[in-house]
Amino acid sequence: MEKSTQLGMNRTGADMSPIHSKAMLKGQSLFKVGPIDSTGMAAIRSSYVQLKEPVGSVPLPGTFKGVLTSGKEKMTGHNPEVLINKLGERLAFERSGVRLYDALIMKIEADKADEGKDIVSINLLKQFREEEYEHFLMVKEVMESVGADPTAQTPDADVAGLAALGIQKVMTEPRTSLSQCLEALLTAEMTDNGAWELLVELCEEMGLDDTSAEFRRALAQEEKHLEQIKSWVRQLTMGQAEKAL
Ligand SMILES: [Fe+2]
Ligand SMILES: [Fe+2]
Repeated sequence: MEKSTQLGMNRTGADMSPIHSKAMLKGQSLFKVGPIDSTGMAAIRSSYVQLKEPVGSVPLPGTFKGVLTSGKEKMTGHNPEVLINKLGERLAFERSGVRLYDALIMKIEADKADEGKDIVSINLLKQFREEEYEHFLMVKEVMESVGADPTAQTPDADVAGLAALGIQKVMTEPRTSLSQCLEALLTAEMTDNGAWELLVELCEEMGLDDTSAEFRRALAQEEKHLEQIKSWVRQLTMGQAEKAL
């Protein structure tokens, strides 16, 4: 992996060719250049929004009645589908988390010369990867205990997967640097932390005390992931800035 900040032949800016830039600006007078009319595009989008089609649906648990009365823990006075939707989302996200760490570990191992290796611990990355996997299994077991099917994709799982696509692309793009990958991972870990906090609160609210205690342990590990990734991003960036002086 190359450093993310190095000088080179970047041709994307107008300053690279003042003559052509001037010619381009001169050319504007030949055409009518005004504000872009996006009303046509908005009308098409609006017509689709008004269809009110949801992103899938929460699958009906196989033992739906058991969710309310005879599950591992009783869930009283709440809509179980909200929890099932969120559990499905967490399951998908933790699975993605394993893949993100796998991609980064593979990348670091493939590049023996990367200078960030004296800052970033591959063993710690491997530990975080295992913890993401354990969280995945934990959520799967809770889903099964409330009668939900962990193989079904819930609407929020679908949307979370969509939102994470950019992060996966950064991780698997061969040219991205260690600090660029870690920054993308930071985005994932920040979301991960917020989502676990919400899930713990939701379980507490629903009276699922054992589950919320279990999830709180996962949250504590996620907080460490976030803190560590943030610290590595900081150290790599500050290190690069120092050398440039
Ligand atoms: Fe996670
Ligand atoms: Fe994490």
